[in-house]
Amino acid sequence: MPLLIKNCRILVKEKIFQKNILVKNGKISKITNMEPKADRIIDAKSNLVLPGLIDCHVHFREPGLTHKEDFLTGSMAAAKGGITTILDMPNTIPPTTTLDALEEKRKLAAKSVVNYGFNFGGTLDNLSDIKKAKNIAAVKLYLDNTTGDLKLNDFEIVAEILRISKLTIVHAEDINIKNVIGIMIKNKIKNMLHVAHVSSAKELEYAKSNKLRNQVSAEVCPHHLFMNEKDLQALGAFAEMKPSLKAEHDQKALWNGIKEGAVDMIASDHAPHLKEEKEKAEYPFGVPGVETMLPLLLDAFSSNIITIQTIQKLCCENPAKIFRIKNKGFIKEGYDADLVIADLGKRQAVRNEDLLTKCKWSPFEGKILKGWPVTTIVNGNVVYGNGEVFGVKAKEVQYGR
Ligand code: NCD
Ligand code: ZN
Ligand code: ZN
Repeated sequence: MPLLIKNCRILVKEKIFQKNILVKNGKISKITNMEPKADRIIDAKSNLVLPGLIDCHVHFREPGLTHKEDFLTGSMAAAKGGITTILDMPNTIPPTTTLDALEEKRKLAAKSVVNYGFNFGGTLDNLSDIKKAKNIAAVKLYLDNTTGDLKLNDFEIVAEILRISKLTIVHAEDINIKNVIGIMIKNKIKNMLHVAHVSSAKELEYAKSNKLRNQVSAEVCPHHLFMNEKDLQALGAFAEMKPSLKAEHDQKALWNGIKEGAVDMIASDHAPHLKEEKEKAEYPFGVPGVETMLPLLLDAFSSNIITIQTIQKLCCENPAKIFRIKNKGFIKEGYDADLVIADLGKRQAVRNEDLLTKCKWSPFEGKILKGWPVTTIVNGNVVYGNGEVFGVKAKEVQYGR
């Protein structure tokens, strides 16, 4: 059942070309100027086509917190946002810190309509499970307080985990970023470290201005790029996340880091909590993000703040490379047909009622954005198109190591 996606504007060696993409058995079989025969044709109408985004930082809340989100609602929201692969975080209930919990999550994720992978949580006493865990994206360590109960205080254990895990993601804020890199240096650790949600000038400096910078990747999130602490006034708890929103000069430093190549990846840190929970005196931290990340970035492209090349690199190519995700992140023959068609001219407001995330709110509500995904294709299947999500099940990703 070959599918032909006609009139795609894609990046070929950093330049835009119009091509037709033939998809067979869920894979990109040909990128061509010809019109090969196909059973189905989608006309991209000269719209931009990107590799589906790989969002390596989401909290789909399953199991245990499914009143906030689950793999179906989270993945439908992701598909609508042009994201075709997600990596889920371990701070669920139970946390993904044992082999049993990983297997349970694997079963639950089978309902996802975008491809998925799992980050495994590190604790004081799960080294042997970390060693045995199969097909995980990375080990996630929490060095500061946030949603869940996974904060590690013992730097000896942190060192042990950094030593055995090929790729470790840290939730480390401020000086703790410097501390964890210090542990790597002191112990001569050669593995990779990924610093999640870098939020300030200082944090970016700690992450990238040191002799291990080639071993350390830095991720930034849309909320830190498109908001700053001034937004707290209007939004209150709805703009509270970990790490918190910072000053305008920090926000500028992150954009500067994107321009200068210090930022390696953009991820949503999609962290849904219900409105009722956010309205309580003791509210939880985190904001949803999978549906608005690409529109925000495309809107920034319209305002000349970021290039399409950089969006593709930070949201598709680098996540695939850093997490060594097989056959994804690029529009290449032989790669998985995970694609997003985006209409760069489409103007639309972010509206809470349009959102598919279970939490049904966004800190960007009311913002008019120019540039929206219109069709999302996962493994050669249209999962989002004409405003509708289709429930085709996706697959767990594989890693090249
Ligand atoms: C995240 C959550 O709610 O799970 N919250 C957040 O504020 N970012 C946890 C996290 O990523 O630290
Ligand atoms: Zn975090
Ligand atoms: Zn997170």
